[in-house]
Amino acid sequence: MTSSLHKKPATHTGAGASRIAHDLLRWYDANARTLPWRVPPGSNEAPDPYRVWLSEIMLQQTTVAAVRPYFDGFTARWPDVAALAAAPEADVLAAWAGLGYYARARNLIACARMVAGAGGSFPETEERLRALPGVGAYTAAAIAAIAFGQRAVAVDANVERVVSRLFAIADPLPASRPAIREAADSITPDARAGDFAQAMMDLGSSVCTSREPKCLICPLQGDCIGHGRGIAASLPVKAAKKPKPQRSGTAYWIERDGHVLLVRRPAKGMLAGMRALPDDGWAARRDGDGVPPADGGWRDSGASVRHVFTHFVLDMRISAMRDAPPAMAERLDGEWWAIDRLDDAGLPTLFANAARAMSKCE
Ligand code: ADE
Ligand code: SF4
Repeated sequence: MTSSLHKKPATHTGAGASRIAHDLLRWYDANARTLPWRVPPGSNEAPDPYRVWLSEIMLQQTTVAAVRPYFDGFTARWPDVAALAAAPEADVLAAWAGLGYYARARNLIACARMVAGAGGSFPETEERLRALPGVGAYTAAAIAAIAFGQRAVAVDANVERVVSRLFAIADPLPASRPAIREAADSITPDARAGDFAQAMMDLGSSVCTSREPKCLICPLQGDCIGHGRGIAASLPVKAAKKPKPQRSGTAYWIERDGHVLLVRRPAKGMLAGMRALPDDGWAARRDGDGVPPADGGWRDSGASVRHVFTHFVLDMRISAMRDAPPAMAERLDGEWWAIDRLDDAGLPTLFANAARAMSKCE
């Protein structure tokens, strides 16, 4: 990991590395956020692996603020892994609606059923956690550390930012990932693994923030090479991203007597298994064909929504049919849903926004 453009990353060894862990943990003892899945530092209580796992899956690509109400809702309704494993898949998908990245919800169910089927205890090692559906390298390390106190190096975007600054790693992401991981490993202590992992996350979200790191109040300032060199705010450097492809498509608003026709999406593919408006077959790699799902008096509603997916941006027009015949439900294998109760349908955000756009036109 050397670069001709940048100074070589400096290193923290021995005493420096253990001082960083010590100072960070002392900061955490006084400043840990109170979070519903977290056991506060110094508590004698053991963390509940089910809650740790559920929170880590929800927090993948999603902020703490967005996750909180979903976490509370899920744990109130399904207080342990056996309860979640026994829940109908449609209920779990509907409860997940709005959180995004729906493959996580399907993996969540698969994982709950696997763990419940094997006796109800989560595995305790990183390696065996990784074998669970939806649990990648980061999540396995986070659960091993937080739920089971195992020394593990959990590197998420927050930790990437803190570590690249602490060590002044100036090569661009993603190529710098192995160096960042190695550096994170070098400061990870053997004791208080869970607190250390969460302290890094908290420092990254409240002090070592992406645009203006608050170095003046940072417990690690004295050991921070990026700060010392005056380049902290510019790190981590990110390789330029390719623009996302632009797709277009149409959704169909089929209305009758205060109800709209909803369908269930196929079990495979985008937004699999979720309730939705019928559409014209748009996908990540192709535009919709613009062919309505049935003959009838269609009209362009003028409403449209833009939605940013991981791999593409979708502009979706909405075409409408009012006073649709009742037989539409059988024809499209859908269900009539009361428009004033659409909030309960568990629509993913794209279609919830489409419904909102329709409520604003005429
Ligand atoms: N982000 C991911 N996991 C987290 C955790 N356990 N606490 C705070 N933020 C997180
Ligand atoms: Fe981040 Fe500044 Fe602290 Fe370094 S000193 S870890 S850049 S907040």
